[in-house]
Amino acid sequence: MTIKRDTYEDDDSSSSNKRVKVENGSNGVKKEENPYLAHWNDESGSKNEPSNSADLLYSFKRHGTTAKQAHDAEDGPLNPFTGKSLSSNYMSILKKRRDLPVHQQRDDFLSLYQSSQILVFVGETGSGKTTQIPQFVLFDDLPHLNNKMVACTQPRRVAAMSVAQRVAEEMDVNLGEEVGYSIRFEDKTGPNTMLKYMTDGMLLREAMHDNNLSRYSTIILDEAHERTLATDILMGLLKEVVLRRKDLKLIIMSATLDATKFQRYFHDAPLLAVPGRTHAVEIFYTPEPERDYVEASLRTVLQIHATEKEGDILLFLTGEEEIEDTCRKLTMEAQELLRDGAAGPLQVYPLYGTLPPAQQQKIFNPAPPPATPGGPPGRKCIISTNIAETSLTIDGIVYVVDPGFSKQKVYNPRIRVESLLVSPISKASAQQRAGRAGRTRPGKCFRLYTEAAFKKELIEQTYPEVLRSNLASTVLELKKLGVEDLVHFDLMDPPAPETLMRALEELNYLACLDDEGDLTTLGRLASEFPLDPALAVMLITSPEFYCSNEILSLTALLSVPQIFVRPANNRKAADEMKELFAHPDGDHLTMLNVYHAFKGAEAQANPKQWCHDHFLSFRALQQADNVRLQLKRIMEREELELMSTPFENKKYYENIRRALVAGFFMQVAKRDGTGKTYTTVKDEQSVLLHPSTVLAQDSEWVVYNEFVLTTKNYIRTVTGVKAEWLLDIAPVYYDLDEFKKGDVKTALQRTAMKIKRTNEMKAGRR
Ligand SMILES: Nc1ncnc2c1ncn2[C@@H]1O[C@H](COP(=O)(O)OP(=O)(O)OP(=O)(O)O)[C@@H](O)[C@H]1O
Ligand SMILES: [Mg+2]
Repeated sequence: MTIKRDTYEDDDSSSSNKRVKVENGSNGVKKEENPYLAHWNDESGSKNEPSNSADLLYSFKRHGTTAKQAHDAEDGPLNPFTGKSLSSNYMSILKKRRDLPVHQQRDDFLSLYQSSQILVFVGETGSGKTTQIPQFVLFDDLPHLNNKMVACTQPRRVAAMSVAQRVAEEMDVNLGEEVGYSIRFEDKTGPNTMLKYMTDGMLLREAMHDNNLSRYSTIILDEAHERTLATDILMGLLKEVVLRRKDLKLIIMSATLDATKFQRYFHDAPLLAVPGRTHAVEIFYTPEPERDYVEASLRTVLQIHATEKEGDILLFLTGEEEIEDTCRKLTMEAQELLRDGAAGPLQVYPLYGTLPPAQQQKIFNPAPPPATPGGPPGRKCIISTNIAETSLTIDGIVYVVDPGFSKQKVYNPRIRVESLLVSPISKASAQQRAGRAGRTRPGKCFRLYTEAAFKKELIEQTYPEVLRSNLASTVLELKKLGVEDLVHFDLMDPPAPETLMRALEELNYLACLDDEGDLTTLGRLASEFPLDPALAVMLITSPEFYCSNEILSLTALLSVPQIFVRPANNRKAADEMKELFAHPDGDHLTMLNVYHAFKGAEAQANPKQWCHDHFLSFRALQQADNVRLQLKRIMEREELELMSTPFENKKYYENIRRALVAGFFMQVAKRDGTGKTYTTVKDEQSVLLHPSTVLAQDSEWVVYNEFVLTTKNYIRTVTGVKAEWLLDIAPVYYDLDEFKKGDVKTALQRTAMKIKRTNEMKAGRR
């Protein structure tokens, strides 16, 4: 079979917009006469570079190519996809790429890929899965000649972005052109994109509008072992799509997964396993459990630095604050060691998801040299969250310090609380972490827990996210995807029925699903927004409260990382600055004040400096601005009106608070008597206001954005509301017959009585 070639070229734009269809350069216009096809006249000896990339791969037989053919095409001299000359950087990277373990098995990969619709691919970490396999696919699948794309999903935004960047460099193309990425609120792809790295969540979103994912000829689900919610749902969907679309190929990829389970799930798909090229890693355990893992980590890193041979260090901690804090401490202590001549220089880099890509890139910098020739070695130490456990590969790591914890999502359907908790990792994670050492030479992994704890206390595999999440968004997505029968949707590990029931109930209260469980108009609209259902409902209903502009800003602000910066060494000044923006009625309004100030002329004159001076995160605010723009476009498309109550109007803030209730009426707490504690409505959890709140007058009723579980239960980002609004705006949820007897019910009953009396009085006056 040869490729049918359909090349459409724009006709001379000065005459008309008519398009000329050229098939094999023979029918229609003669190719010699078509100025756009001049590069085909190779007889002319023209040095012109082909403008159409397809030419160089024209002789390739789709799904019938060999490694050798691809190899030759990769060697150039022209870029087979763009037709441009290849740079020297490309050539030097190409040499390194050919040393990667997956390269040895390119032919094995191709023959399985060609003969099977679904393929499970397992390769050790760093073997070249994420960067190379999609390129192997490109040369055989030739998506660009068929108006299709190859998608490669990643559970993390940072991985999608950084891998796309790397692969663009490997293919000698500009990021966003032939190779691009797509993550929530950011789409860096173009009309020429043939390889798209994307978060699994984004592919799921696309499936909502195109149930057959018809834009893609091959879909690669990478890091499948992480079992994120989106990957699990995608697997369920794709399992059905492959039956409808015989032309679609699917690759399930991972470093460590229970291959048999995946193969069985995917209609007995074949497996290809690529052995790694890692060196031995020696594992050390602590003899006694550590009381403070952060402190123990710090000590261990310093000890490695002072006593071990050359080689970089990777330390796993759990979150941004902990990591930044440890970076500071470590840098200080290492400088002391250096001054005393006890060790060489140590360069410390943080790594976590919300770090901007430019800063993440720094982890690839080479380690500093020794302070004096022949002196103790210099090294770098990277302190990272789980993102360095998979997805991001850092060569040169010889020592891994693993305290055994990570932040994990947990969900309790009984009290409807989803939170991130620092929890012990699984054995699979621990092995993955250890595997990060010994990439360039034999390594060492220091586990800051006992061997007995590893054997007895750590679970085998991390639980799939679908078993640990609030499924409201997921259920809404599935409904939009046309999955009616949720109970029989084929998930690899089905969630608890209670979790599913809770999600259906929540969506019913939000009026996204009707009593039969069918999608309502509001539900359909809500699913258009890449937001949690409550946020989407708040945004959609905000025109009814004359404040959609403000709620749009607020929704954006709630979708980005924390905007307030509170450095450990300058907390007081930061808190004083925050006071400048504080609104007595709560944190949501305070955030809005910040945003308005940020958009004001004074701040915009030098926004970066202004943010710095006011202890605000420039990055987060900038991101909020971008998110706002994206959401605004969806609102305009859906014809949702953008409006504001005039600022002078005394209802300006009240309207915003009422709109908050319209989305978050299920996240309300009432103060216990006159005390400091609150109780959440219906779920009856005792909570405290988070210390970061600006709420001045202790309101009797508050809506909250987040439930934070630490040693105490906190509610964070809170705003005062009124009981009568709850009854008025969410009468179904606040149907008093449904409430258990207690303080909350009594207070609401009193309010209901008051409203009734007022109404009667008003009626009497008439
Ligand atoms: N940004 C980068 N800069 C330099 N080298 C890189 C970069 N990204 C990848 N590499 C090199 O390419 C190799 C393969 O990386 P790749 O991400 O494809 O591995 P992988 O098999 O997907 O690993 P994992 O299981 O950890 O995701 C790495 O070992 C590294 O040598
Ligand atoms: Mg990878």
